[in-house]
Parts: sequence; structure tokens; C-alpha cells
Amino acid sequence: MRKLVFATDNPNKVREVNELLDNRFKITSKKEIGCLEEIPETQPTIRGNALQKAMYLYDRYKVDCFAEDSGLEVDMLDGRPGVYSARYAGAARSDQANMEKVLKEMENIADRSAQFKTVIALIIDGQARLYEGIVRGKLAKKPKGDKGFGYDPIFIPDELDTTFACISPKQKNEISHRGKAVRQLISFLTR
Ligand code: IMP
Repeated sequence: MRKLVFATDNPNKVREVNELLDNRFKITSKKEIGCLEEIPETQPTIRGNALQKAMYLYDRYKVDCFAEDSGLEVDMLDGRPGVYSARYAGAARSDQANMEKVLKEMENIADRSAQFKTVIALIIDGQARLYEGIVRGKLAKKPKGDKGFGYDPIFIPDELDTTFACISPKQKNEISHRGKAVRQLISFLTR
């Protein structure tokens, strides 16, 4: 079976993609090929970071691989927190503090349009390909729901009238940025 390394140490993400690929590819984490260090993410865009992570693995380990990077982009904040989503309120990576900071910045702003974006960079047979998934929606006035992670409690996708944190992972996957990007990756790999 053909091996593809996912530039992540998150076993849930690896399992999720493995299941979707239906045993046609064997997805392994970066740890399984001996990459124990944290891969740098120093680019100014989500797309740049995804590509940087995949290139890092390809350059050092010469493996077919892919990496993903995601973030929340708020229209009236010029696309922030964007590439800084995970650490928007500081290095502690607190979901709570990140949401509070965004809500504070949006306090008196009527247009609450926002989107989540995921970019997946795939490098296979030495060629890079990019897949982008976007879900449009708006920011809630205050957090709602306890499912999911990150900014889920304050994001209301256009398809729903409640937040991502109020729906099941399966429902979220059907409409989410990450679900859309992963399905493009899978449709290429299983073409
Ligand atoms: P990552 O690139 O998937 O690790 O995402 C970076 C950051 O973006 C996360 O730490 C979250 O703050 C935010 N984020 C990305 N995807 C989601 C999502 O599906 N829901 C909520 N927050 C997200």
C-alpha cells in the first residue's frame, strides 16, 4: 500500500483521513518516520504555512506527504486572526482568550461576516498541489455550545442558524472548511 506522511502529530487527524481513504493509502504521522521536532510555521499566510510544513518533510525525508493549515478570517478585521488564529491572544494558545479577543475587537461592528479556511499542501512524486476549503458564516455575539474546538462556539456557518459548537463532528465535517479541503485531497488521491 502506498504511504503518505501527514505533517501532524495529532492521531485524531491521522485516523480521520485514513478512514476516508478507505485503505487505499496508508497515512502515517510525522512521528512515525522519525520527525520528532516541531515543524516551523513562519509564513504570513495560511497557504504559505501549509506549503512550508509539507516542504519541510519532503526536503528532509524525501517522502510523499501533505500538511494542512487553517484559520478564522474576519472580514471587518482585514482577515485576522487568519494565520495567527491559534495564538491570537498569546503563546498560551487559549481558545477562550482567543475568542474573547475577537469578540472584543468586533464589539461595535455590525457586519460580522467571517470565514474559516483550510489549505492542504500535498507533495507527491516531487510535485506540489494545493487544496483550499472555505466555509462562510458570521460571528455570534457570544459563545454558544460545547462541542468542537477553537473558535467553534462563536462561528455560525451560513448553512445553519447555530454555531459549529452545537453540532456533531459528522455534521460539521459535511460543511466545514477542513471537510471540503480533505475531500478535494481524497478525490485526487483516489482518482
Ligand atoms: P490548525 O491549523 O488546524 O491547527 O488550526 C489553527 C487554529 O485555527 C486553531 O488553533 C483554531 O484556533 C483555529 N481553527 C482552525 N480550524 C478550526 C475549526 O474548525 N474550528 C474552530 N477553530 C478552528
